[in-house]
This record gives sequence, C-alpha cells and structure tokens, in this order.
Amino acid sequence: MSELHILPANHSLRGTIRVPADKSISHRAAILGALADGDLHVENFLPSQTTQATVNCLRGLGAEIEQPDPNTLVIRGHGLRGLRESNDVLFCEGSGTTMRLLAGICAGQDFLSILDGTPALKRRPMARVVNPLREMGATILARDGGRLPPLAIRGGHLRGIDSTLPVASAQVKSALLLAGLFADAPTTVCEPGPSRDHTERMLRAFGVRVEPVAPGNSASAICVSPTSDLRLLLSDFRSLPSITIPADFSSAAFFIVAALLVPRSELRIERVGVNPTRTGLLDVLRAMGADIVLEGEHEQGNEPVADVVIRASDLRGVEVGGDTVVRMIDEFPIFAVAATQAQGETIVHDAAELRVKESDRIATVVTELRALGARIGPQLDGFVVEGPTPLRSAVVDSHGDHRLAMALAVAGLVAEGEVVVKNVECIDDSFPGFAELMCQVGANLSTKGH
Ligand code: S3P
Repeated sequence: MSELHILPANHSLRGTIRVPADKSISHRAAILGALADGDLHVENFLPSQTTQATVNCLRGLGAEIEQPDPNTLVIRGHGLRGLRESNDVLFCEGSGTTMRLLAGICAGQDFLSILDGTPALKRRPMARVVNPLREMGATILARDGGRLPPLAIRGGHLRGIDSTLPVASAQVKSALLLAGLFADAPTTVCEPGPSRDHTERMLRAFGVRVEPVAPGNSASAICVSPTSDLRLLLSDFRSLPSITIPADFSSAAFFIVAALLVPRSELRIERVGVNPTRTGLLDVLRAMGADIVLEGEHEQGNEPVADVVIRASDLRGVEVGGDTVVRMIDEFPIFAVAATQAQGETIVHDAAELRVKESDRIATVVTELRALGARIGPQLDGFVVEGPTPLRSAVVDSHGDHRLAMALAVAGLVAEGEVVVKNVECIDDSFPGFAELMCQVGANLSTKGH
C-alpha cells in the first residue's frame, strides 16, 4: 500500500501546467463512440482504472476499441444497435459513472447484461437508476431489493417516460437520456438542480435532439428524442471524426486551492474545461476573496475551455448551499481544506449527496481534517469549519477516495510538519501523475511503498 509524504511548502508554487483529461467526458466519449456509426478518434483520453473499466465493459459488449497509446482511443462504431450480449460479467471496478451510464445502455438492449464492481462500488446506491429504467420497461434485478450492485439487466422495447429525480445527479440523468435513445417516444428528465451537462452536449454533437424544457419551477428538465443513428457532426477539422477531451476542472481544483493557500504562489493551468455546470468552486472561492482569472476562453468541440490563472490570496469564510452544491459536488474535500485557512466560519448545507460518493465525504473529510488539527464539525447535510487553523503533522488516511487523498496532500503543504497520507493508489482513479506535477510546481512530496 503506498503513502504520500508531504513536507510544508517553504517557498511559493509557480509554473504553467496541464492537468489530466476530464474523467466524466472521457467515459462519455468512449460510450457514444461505441454507439456511433463509423470511426471515432478520442484524443487526450484520461487513462485511469475507472475510464479503462468503461472501455473494457464496452469491449465486452462487442465494441471495437483500440488504444494505440494510453491517451488515445480509436473506436470502430457499429451503430446504435451494434452491441451484443457479453459472455462475461461487465466489471465496472470502483466506477459509479461506468455502472450507472452503462445501466442506461444495457436497458436498451434485448439481451442479458450483468454489471458488477469492487466492494466500494457494491455499497453505492443504485435504486436511483434501477427504478426509472424499470419504469421504461427494462427488467432489472439487484441486491438488497433493487438497491445495490450487482445489477442484472435484460432490456429492449423501452417506453419514453417523464422522470423526476429526487436528487440532482448527472449519472442518473445520463443513464435515462442514453436509455431514451432506444425508447419508442421522447424521454424527459427533471432534476432539482443543474447537474453536469456533458452527456447532453455530446449527444447534440452526435446529431441527437436534446432540448431543455421548462418544468415551471426552479428545477431543470431535459428531453431526448429517440434516434436510429449517431454520427459526429462536430470535428476538430481532421480527416477522421475526432473528439479532444479538455483538462478536468475537478483535477485542476487541487492546484487552484494549493496556489491560493501557499504564500506568493502563482500558477497557470492550461486548457481546463470550464463548463458552468462544473465550476461552482470558482464562484465560491472568488466570493471568499480568491484571485482567480480565466484567460483565453474558447469552445473546444462542444465544451468551453480556458487557462486558469491563480494567485495566492487571503480567504474569508462563506456559506454554500442550493444549486452551487450541485455545480461543485466533487470539490468538497478540497474546498474544506481551503475553508480551514479562511478567516471566519464556513458553512456547507444541502450536500447530503456527499455521504454516497467514493466515501462518506462528510464523515471522512471531518475525521481526517480533525486529525490535522482543523476545527470542523459534521452536519447531516454538510459541515461547518472555523478558520483559520494552523494544521499540524499527522498520519491520515484516504479511505480509498481519490479526491480525499489529494485534498489531504494539499493540506500537508500548509501544515507545520510532515503529513503522511496512507492508501494513495486511488489517486490514479482521476489524476495519474498528481505527486509528480505537485513537485514540478515546487511542492515537496514523495511516494513511499507500492
Ligand atoms: C459524475 C457525476 C457526479 C460526480 C461523479 C461523476 C458523472 O455524480 O460526483 O464524480 O460523470 O456523471 P452524481 O451524478 O452521482 O452526482
């Protein structure tokens, strides 16, 4: 099991860097490429265990996917009806995105698919996808009365439905939109907040009709029309249809907060995806007094990208709730670290979803930051932080959660002695090369063990 040893940053963090490709968009590019007609090149694909799980499951379903190098996929699409029954379990590793999005695809197939994963994935709630996909007409069996993986799905002959999600979730919304491609009529998904819209953007790029509808209150609703084929309309002006994945804002977030907290730092992170459904953290950090500027904003394919320029700043406490929570749902571990160094109280509410992420992120963030000396307390749907607190040397644990592991490493940069983060293999789930890139900008991190 490997550990990260972090020494306090005794000088500023500086440089111009690139962080790895967006995890969410990488999953979607592989899936839509496998359902499309003809060849698709995916450039700057994220090579991680979770995205690789999606590729392997799609191969199990008969998709022809070559990976000439870790960051490139060449997908030979056999069309929307081109998948076939797998002779094995589709193993999703620890990836909720793989399991939930593929559940939507498998619901559209007139054959049996069994989706399973690691013990951590087996604890993640699945009724949220199982119930609406059953309503569309798929037969789905799951453990614990339909609540937990593995999922056994026999689909086909789906009906279009109007579904209202109890919680905002891009994974569930995407599962239903993907199933909706195979249905007999349009499918509408209404959710209480604006979850990430990468699936909608990419479906449109493949010529599918996906339109917002007015649900009549503050909720957001989207309607997908069934289709007979997917074909990439947008291309990066190459001879072959291609998609280039932008850098992941959620990975950039660790460097954004590190540069804000380590005195006199200045970083530029190039070509980061700045889709507004993902950048809630930017708005919140700016409200706390952060000096963050977006430069050279432009569209890359169907997503906005920009360089993010960060200068060290004094932060003050803030209150976060409502739709902003959805727009920064993966950033709370690193946000909590920023809050420990801000002047005054920071309150997070409306964030009960954090309890069913890669770990119970309310419990794990509170436990581990307290071990470092932070004044942080749990709430049922969030947490409260009292700052600023000097953080101290300690041995802390990632709980197998990649975002917690990296957040604790950033906390180590501003602690008063060495911080050791145990169980850090999981960092590769979204950010291969994290420690090396931190060292490149001037941090003092080393990995021990294997
Ligand atoms: C994701 C959606 C979010 C996010 C996850 C990736 C996606 O999950 O937390 O890391 O790619 O659609 P929920 O849809 O469960 O909120």
